[in-house]
Amino acid sequence: MHYREYARQILEGGSLDDKLLSSKDLELSSILENYSLPKNPGRTKRLEINNEQIKFPRNTSFHLEEKRGLALHFFANHELLAIEMMAAALLLYPDTGRDMIQFKKGLIKTIQDEQKHLKMYIVRMKEFGVEFGDFPLNDFFWTWMDKCPTATHFYSAMALTFESANLDFAQFYEKSFRAVDDTKSADMMRIVLEDEISHVALGAHWLNQWKGDKNLWNYYKDHLPGVMTPARSKGIHFDKEIRTKAGLDQDFISSLDSYRDEFNVTNRKSW
Ligand SMILES: [Fe+2]
Ligand SMILES: [Fe+2]
Repeated sequence: MHYREYARQILEGGSLDDKLLSSKDLELSSILENYSLPKNPGRTKRLEINNEQIKFPRNTSFHLEEKRGLALHFFANHELLAIEMMAAALLLYPDTGRDMIQFKKGLIKTIQDEQKHLKMYIVRMKEFGVEFGDFPLNDFFWTWMDKCPTATHFYSAMALTFESANLDFAQFYEKSFRAVDDTKSADMMRIVLEDEISHVALGAHWLNQWKGDKNLWNYYKDHLPGVMTPARSKGIHFDKEIRTKAGLDQDFISSLDSYRDEFNVTNRKSW
């Protein structure tokens, strides 16, 4: 299967099987072809986008299985949106030149990881009596996609903002699950965290390649889509060390650390 066909099935196909499509034996060759983003990713009735507001459960309620199930349902939605957005990135950005083929290879590997996370969450929430689609699935991340005209915008938003925030969140929720002796869920968060470090590192690698002799922090800020700000790149407790591990330079990390804006991080309870 050509990688574009694979990406289209993931993005435009509606079923969970489409979203979990394997990337085995993909053909990666350049095709000059424009792609226009669909308004929404394809979704079967059960997985339909629904922006009805539901609250993320407080970790103080994590002794209740149903609350843990709901938390995992939120996480699974993030994975699903990440998979679809990465598939969209495969279709949107050019694939001419060796660099861009490498860029797409990295995306395909990342999609594999996100699919693994999605499957883990679905299996675990089932053990708590929650099926994927039982609660509303919002399109919060997806709405940024049409504001990312270049791969630089995409990685600034995806890897250096959303996935970077997840470096903090994954650790926070690992602890929260461990605090109620849910080792199974806690261990899953650890796996997600380890993968997320490599996803942030991949984004940092490409931005460093593309920025030329510019400063990474400025380059990143200049390519954040729409009204997105670096504040969204931080979770509940800002972890500098893990960002060093993800290959971000010290200047970038301290600029991010001291960044403040109206999106008040301290008032933030979840994504
Ligand atoms: Fe993930
Ligand atoms: Fe990720």
